[in-house]
Amino acid sequence: MAARYLLLGVVTAGCVTATSVTCSASAPLSCHNTTSYDTCCLNYPGGHLLQTQFWDTNPATGPSDSWTIHGLWLILSPGDGTYDSSCDPSRAYTNITQILQAAAPSTLQYMQTYWKDINGNDESFWEHEWGKHGTCISTLNPSCYINYQPTQEAVDFFDRTVSMFQSLPSYSWLSAAGIVPSTTTTYTLSAIQSALTSKFGYAVTINCNSNNELNELWYHYNVQGSVQSGTFEPTSPVGSGSTCPSTGIKYLPKPGGTTVTTATTMTTATASTPVSSASPTTTAPGGALSGKGYLNVITGGAQKGCIISSGTWYTTGTCATFTATPSGSGGFTLTSSKGKCAISSSNALTCSSSVTSPTVFTYDGTYVDYAGSSAFYAASVPSGTTQAAVYTTPNTVSLKLTWQAI
Ligand SMILES: *[C@@H]1O[C@H](CO)[C@@H](O)[C@H](O)[C@H]1NC(C)=O
Ligand SMILES: *[C@@H]1O[C@H](CO)[C@@H](O)[C@H](O)[C@H]1NC(C)=O
Repeated sequence: MAARYLLLGVVTAGCVTATSVTCSASAPLSCHNTTSYDTCCLNYPGGHLLQTQFWDTNPATGPSDSWTIHGLWLILSPGDGTYDSSCDPSRAYTNITQILQAAAPSTLQYMQTYWKDINGNDESFWEHEWGKHGTCISTLNPSCYINYQPTQEAVDFFDRTVSMFQSLPSYSWLSAAGIVPSTTTTYTLSAIQSALTSKFGYAVTINCNSNNELNELWYHYNVQGSVQSGTFEPTSPVGSGSTCPSTGIKYLPKPGGTTVTTATTMTTATASTPVSSASPTTTAPGGALSGKGYLNVITGGAQKGCIISSGTWYTTGTCATFTATPSGSGGFTLTSSKGKCAISSSNALTCSSSVTSPTVFTYDGTYVDYAGSSAFYAASVPSGTTQAAVYTTPNTVSLKLTWQAI
């Protein structure tokens, strides 16, 4: 039986770093193995994984323009959608925040914005997701680690769930198809399904609550290799189908939704405040900014630098002052000391005296948007004196822009 390759611990600064086993490139795809295989490199039993996401509006959780993480689940029987749960109570850790603070602070920081408990108790939600689902993932078993250090497998679970969620930007995928939160418009199941399928490649399980409000998405995968370092292959849904009606689906705005910059201050008082279903300020797409301010860059759930006068991203030094001028059509234009700002023919933000027709941006209450989307990109995160061009078309690093009035 072809098994995994054992990898010797990586030697760093005189210490042996714990690491999980390295899986062979020929490890089978989960749910597709034809012979038995090492369960450190093949999820078994249960090789069908789901990255599940919430759209909570009452109370709202997370940023108003993003779905939030529910979890990473493992389905046992593709036929009936059943799953194992709480497989190892001895590893049902009750200190997820401390574990991540010590081992993966940027993952923790991201989770504090995007992995929110509807009752305001994120730690207990994370403990529940890990204990119920994470401890059932065979490749995260302590025996799959060389020089195992207690809790490191939970770090891998949270790291991987976050990175999968980051690869599934449901809000942008829906809004690219014109499916945006609204208190008045309703959507058909087929429109939502085709918007998501066209991006993901496979159908997605689309769930609604009893009021026909869209509130959960399940993205389905098989995995080749381990959950911690293998390849997730999108696949068709299994289990119970969508719980949404075929027409009349509501996709409500998140009134009072937190923003990236204030997410960690969300209180239980906010979480328990009943939300009015008619909140006119959040239904108007777009909005104008005016006056002077900084354009801060948010990436990986945290602020990292800002935009400088030429329109590029810089992570050290002083932010440029921009002037926002309402355009009269609901949006605004931006000007820096270099000149007016526009999205150039190479899809990059550029501010220069040679710009004659500035681009009209909008403000969604949290981020600066271009063409209705808050998604901007860069080829890499700049450091030192390096600047990075900011693009409106997909690239390696995703970022968003916030406005800090001065
Ligand atoms: C797949 O691998 C698991 C784990 O080794 C094994 O128990 C199962 O029987 C295998 N399935 C097939 C069809 O051989
Ligand atoms: C978390 O709790 C586990 C035991 O449940 C312990 O082994 C570990 O050291 C704790 N980690 C931190 C960072 O407190």
